[in-house]
Formats: sequence, structure tokens, C-alpha cells
Amino acid sequence: MEQLLQQIKNYKQEVAEYTAANADAVEEFRIKYLGTKGIVKSVMGEMKSVPNESKKEFGLILNEFKQFVETKFEELKNNNSLHIAQHSDGIDWSLPGDDFGVGTRHPLIIVRNQIVSIFKRLGFAVAEGPEIEDDWHNFGSMNLPEDHPARDMQDTFYISQNPSWLLRTHTSSVQARVMEKQKPPIRVICPGRVYRNETISARAHCFFHQVEGLSVDEHVSFADLKQTLYFFVQEMFGKDIKVRFRPSYFPFTEPSAEMDISCLICGGSGCNVCKHTGWVEILGSGMVHPKVLENFNIDSNKYTGFAFGMGIERVCQLKYRVNDLRLYSQNDVRFLRQFTGAV
Ligand code: PHE
Repeated sequence: MEQLLQQIKNYKQEVAEYTAANADAVEEFRIKYLGTKGIVKSVMGEMKSVPNESKKEFGLILNEFKQFVETKFEELKNNNSLHIAQHSDGIDWSLPGDDFGVGTRHPLIIVRNQIVSIFKRLGFAVAEGPEIEDDWHNFGSMNLPEDHPARDMQDTFYISQNPSWLLRTHTSSVQARVMEKQKPPIRVICPGRVYRNETISARAHCFFHQVEGLSVDEHVSFADLKQTLYFFVQEMFGKDIKVRFRPSYFPFTEPSAEMDISCLICGGSGCNVCKHTGWVEILGSGMVHPKVLENFNIDSNKYTGFAFGMGIERVCQLKYRVNDLRLYSQNDVRFLRQFTGAV
């Protein structure tokens, strides 16, 4: 008994003198005295060896000791936070922080990522090419004859220092870059920025974005093209979407078709976006022209392919109802902030 009382006295002395310079020391104190294997617990355990007649008296002493330690612990904790506040040049670290404004993805990037991820699931790999191109990759190899109107100075930006260079007018140039290096089977998707010399307005811009698709293998058919694109629009816009193909012309595909989807803005009943037709064009497509394959030494008797090119702005317009192309590049945060949370 006597011995135990003396020990408690010693502990109290120790506790009273304990100082903690930082949060770690406070925690050390807690573990040493109040932890599950701490001193308070072990002293409490001595109760069982105390004779019955002294239990009451001893219980009081023990409780008092426990409270003493707990009070000290609270004190250490409080002093410690005060201590930090006092030693940090007047900065109160416990105040809530300033909002540092997390950025948001650009809507065109959001839509591009969605398009790419859908085609990736179909086994397409991503390919990229340069924005500054030469005539061969942008036009020549794509079977655009010398006198094709798309080569006209009015449509194409040529680099003034070296007029054999130009800003690519479509991502079909990446088809050329891929076929130059890779032999069939080829299945790639090529997102990128393209440039055309247009007067900037709500409906036209001097640069915009496309995603090109190219699939070359034995036995690739127009049915494959249609089914691939049909799968894509259903994934992108939902199962209720309708599609239609219209015959068209591109020098690098034969036959060629443009694909329309039912207008998402008015549901097909007619509005400004679909020019009251109920349909919106979203891409150009077709079977890769044999001459294009031959340009890259791909045997056009053995291999066939399909290709398509779609405008990301157009898809974005339908998804987010953005009706002015200029908004995409003005970087107005009031516009950009609306896409918070989208991925
Ligand atoms: N390059 C065409 C354009 O920019 C789109 C397209 C790509 C058409 C591939 C057919 C095949 O309009």
C-alpha cells in the first residue's frame, strides 16, 4: 500500500513537470499515461491487490490521479496549439484555407476524350501527326489532284517562309503518316486540330478539331463502316439516336458518304441547329480510295479500308448546345466553368 501511494505521488510529480514542445510530445504523453498499456491503466490494475477495507479510500486516490493526468493532457493539447499559433508569424493555421479554384477540362477535350474512349473499346489505337504538314501528306497522297479547289489559297494557310509547308486542313494527313509507317491490319483514331482560311463567325472558324478514323485490313467492307459508326453514335448520344448516310464525294474515299444524326436539340421536329430538317451532319466517310492505299504500297487487291472524319465542335454543339464556335477559343471563364465536374 505504502509503496503504491508513494509511486502515485512520484507519477503526479512527473506529470506536473511534463512539458511538450510539439504535437508529437503531447501524443507521447498520451500514450505513456493514458494509452491502453499506459501508467494510469496499470495503476488502476493494482486495485485487486488492495485489501477490501481500504478499497474505497484507495479508489478515490486512484480516480483523483486519473483526473489529474487527464486535465494535464488537455492542458498540454491546448498549450500546444496556442504555441503553434504564436510561433508562426501571426498565421492561424487552424483557419479554413482559401479556395484555390480547381480548373475544369475544356468542353472540346471532354468530348474528344469520350470519342476516343468509345473507339478504343472497338480496338482502335490513337495516332497523332504534325499540325504543320507538307503538300504530300495533306493533299497529294490523299488523292487530291493538283487543281483541286481544296488546295486553293483561300482555304489553306501556307507557311510564308516555306510555301511547301502548310497548316493541315484535315486530320486525313494523319492517315498518310500512319500508312507510311504501318502495314495492315491498321485501326487508328486520330484526334487533332486543323486549320482553314475562313472568316471567323459563329458558324465558321479558322481552326477547329477533328477525329479521323482509319481501318485497313482484308475484307473490310462498307457494312463495317456503317456498323462501327452506328455503334459510336449510340454510345455517344444514346440508343434513341437515328442515323442516315447520304452519298457524297471525297477524293480519298470511293464510295463516300456523309453521316447525319437525328437532331438532338429539337428531337427531329426542326430547329435552327438542323436548319429545320431534323438532321445534323456530323461526319464524312467512305471506303479508302485504292489509289490512296497504293500511295503507301498497300496492295489494294488484297486490302480494303474505311475512313471517316468528324468535327469535334459539331458533336460538342449537340451535346452541350453551344451555338457559337467562337466561345471555344475565347477562354471566357464564365463559359469554361460550366463544364465543372465533367470528365
Ligand atoms: N477529311 C474530310 C474533311 O475534312 C473528312 C473525311 C475523312 C471524309 C475521312 C472521308 C474520310 O472534310
